[in-house]
Amino acid sequence: MDADFSDKNPELAALYSAHIDAVRARHDYALEKGGASHAIVFSGAPLPVFLDDCHYPYQANAHFVSWAPLTNLPLSYIVYTPGETPILIYNQPYDYWHSVPGEPDGYWATQFDVRIVHSIDDVAEHLPRERDNCILIGEINDSAHAMGIERVNPTTFINILHYARGIKTDYELACLRLASIRGAAGHLAAAEAFNAQEPEFGIHRAYCEAVSHTDNELPYSNIIALNQHGAVLHYTNLERNPPDDFRSFLIDAGAMVHGYASDITRTYANGDSRFGELIERMETLQLDIVGRVRAGVDFRELHLDTHRLLAGVLVDAELATGDADTLLASGVTAAFLPHGLGHLLGVQVHDVGGHMENESGTTIDPPSGHPYLRLTRRLEENMVLTIEPGLYIIDMLLDNLRGTPAEGQVNWKTVDLLRPFGGIRIEDNVRVTSSGCDNFTRDAFAAIQ
Ligand code: GLY
Ligand code: MN
Ligand code: MN
Repeated sequence: MDADFSDKNPELAALYSAHIDAVRARHDYALEKGGASHAIVFSGAPLPVFLDDCHYPYQANAHFVSWAPLTNLPLSYIVYTPGETPILIYNQPYDYWHSVPGEPDGYWATQFDVRIVHSIDDVAEHLPRERDNCILIGEINDSAHAMGIERVNPTTFINILHYARGIKTDYELACLRLASIRGAAGHLAAAEAFNAQEPEFGIHRAYCEAVSHTDNELPYSNIIALNQHGAVLHYTNLERNPPDDFRSFLIDAGAMVHGYASDITRTYANGDSRFGELIERMETLQLDIVGRVRAGVDFRELHLDTHRLLAGVLVDAELATGDADTLLASGVTAAFLPHGLGHLLGVQVHDVGGHMENESGTTIDPPSGHPYLRLTRRLEENMVLTIEPGLYIIDMLLDNLRGTPAEGQVNWKTVDLLRPFGGIRIEDNVRVTSSGCDNFTRDAFAAIQ
């Protein structure tokens, strides 16, 4: 049976009320610590383009989406008072230029006292009178949207919510699992388009068609990289013309389900045995690291383990010589893998709180020499994160090794041979359990292939 991404999905409907209970509980606690009686969550406003009459694509406030899967409801508010049904001030503007939000409908609607308004001017009457007792959460670019509330995004309050968001509810896990299923279907379509020698733009279109997303609905701009473009970590150019030769394909693309993202990468060779074997080695490495994920593990250690394993791959592939400790210390592994092993995933692709040591906001630094590691927490059950090791030929970074002791540890001839293939990344989305992890992405590919 096809996956049900709709807001009539009975599984999500059954899980949603427990999710709301969890969100309420974390707001109860944050309000108590923050010394306030009401949390007001603003969905956000479309940002106007400078000196123009159009707007940037609207992105809902992640805190708003954590309450309800309303990713396209600008200028709306949730009002939460402990012990009471949350109020959803649902803005349905009178507007004949644009389509406006439909009637409130879906599994989420019954959890709110929904108040339909037709203008931002009608919001104030639904807010608590005592604005001093309110905390407002959201991006406020126009003071009119603050509704007279002065405590906007206070750190104590926000930190509690961000730390709590690291652990997903069963409803969120179901959304994230569905997001992987949706994304995997896109990846299969993209792989077919690569085999049919479509240009990057055509592969992108095949992906969007399969996941049924417009560009603005994607969780992040698709990375569709043929050949050496795979070495640009966030390559988003989408060449319109096919290259002369199809050597390799790196695709990093996700999908959304009710505001929750997947973030998946696969890399393919087109017949070259050296590059194909290197992909297989990286696949083995990635699965090895996935196999080490479980509650209690320090993610910084997992990141450093990845670099030790990568050193072995570099030596076997004749890209480097030396033992793992030497290649780590000299910066060789970091030049081939200059990003973090992974990050938290949720209503944001790089979900908040990855460096938080506790709810009060003290942070855990990444290991020295690895500043881009976005997750430094010890893993806990029901965290969802990516595991995304890579290996790239990035001349800018490799050139930095010249004139240092590392220069002699790199086999530059093999670097030259692999440069036209760009790079390799393999990225799965996993849920941490007490004894290991559930791999949402591998499960999704297995279910649809
Ligand atoms: N797609 C961005 C990332 O993998 O973090
Ligand atoms: Mn990615
Ligand atoms: Mn990622």
